[in-house]
Amino acid sequence: MALITWEETYSVNIREIDDQHKKLFNLINILYDAMREGRDNDVLGRVLSELIDYTVYHFDAEERLFQKHGYPEYKHHKKEHDNLARQAVELRDKFNLDGYGMISLEVLIFLKDWLKNHVMVTDRKYASFLNGKGVV
Ligand code: FEO
Repeated sequence: MALITWEETYSVNIREIDDQHKKLFNLINILYDAMREGRDNDVLGRVLSELIDYTVYHFDAEERLFQKHGYPEYKHHKKEHDNLARQAVELRDKFNLDGYGMISLEVLIFLKDWLKNHVMVTDRKYASFLNGKGVV
C-alpha cells in the first residue's frame, strides 16, 4: 500500500525534477512498506539512508538550476531545503544510535507531508520561471 502517490498536479514541467520527485515518493513508500512488514534494522536503516541521501542530491540539483538561471527566490527555497536536510540527518543519526524505535510512523508521515507540501507549494513556484528559461 502506498503512503503517497504521484499525481500530475505535482509536476513542475521539468522531466528530470519530476523523475527525482517520483523517486523520493517511491523511497518513502518503500520505507513505509518495510516498517509495516516489520523488516529488520539493517533494511530500515539502508532505506532511510537512501531516502536522506537522495533528498540531499535532489535539493542540490534544484539549487544548481536556481543558480544557473538566477531564480530570485533561491535563498528562501534553499533555507527550506537546509532545514529539512538538517532534520533528516539528525533523524538518521538518532536511528543509528537508538535503532528501530526512532523511525516511527509519525516521523515517516512528517517526512511525507513535508515533501508533499514542499513540492506542491514551494517547488511549483519555480516551475513557470524555469520553464520560461527553457528548462523543461
Ligand atoms: Fe523538490 Fe525544493 O525540492
